[in-house]
Amino acid sequence: MNVVLNDNSLTTGRIRARLDRPVVLIGLMGSGKTRLGRLLSDALGLPFADSDDEIENAAGMSVAEIFERFGEDYFRDGERRVVRRLLEDGVKIIATGGGAIMNAETAALVWEKAVSVWVRADLSVMLERTGRNDRRPLLRRGDPEAILKDLMAKRYPVYEKADIVVDSHSGAVETIVDQALEKLDEFLNHD
Ligand code: S3P
Repeated sequence: MNVVLNDNSLTTGRIRARLDRPVVLIGLMGSGKTRLGRLLSDALGLPFADSDDEIENAAGMSVAEIFERFGEDYFRDGERRVVRRLLEDGVKIIATGGGAIMNAETAALVWEKAVSVWVRADLSVMLERTGRNDRRPLLRRGDPEAILKDLMAKRYPVYEKADIVVDSHSGAVETIVDQALEKLDEFLNHD
């Protein structure tokens, strides 16, 4: 689907002028981090990176295959190294896998070196989005709704520490991009 973004040139110009570090998107699977990240990178004219894609490219296999063949700990170790490298690589938009920020070292780096954005969606939205494909190994371990609820309880106390929260509803994606840009602009204005 092609998305025609609204004219946010004043806001994006101000953000570009003030942004001196990466923007890191955190949040649960299916919250829309990758989609929002790509659109923000288009709107701001900044590079985009997705930690899952980086791990997949380095390993030459999918996240699901890495979990299956080498286990979750191996994936988490790669994820920690990838996010650290991306954070040291200039101003850009970085979408992270939902569990990345649960690593204490990653969290400390993100809080210190990035503008963090929690992309928050309702359970029903995340269930619908993650149900469209079979790419999330954690959700294959049982009932996806129960697993997502459990992850909400465990992870929201950490996600809540983000600098900014963006509500990623099921409505028009342009309004989510606008919301993210407004919040980034406001945050950087008071930073
Ligand atoms: C995970 C989220 C996934 C991926 C892996 C584990 C998690 O990324 O990193 O399946 O622990 O929440 P997305 O959040 O992009 O789906």
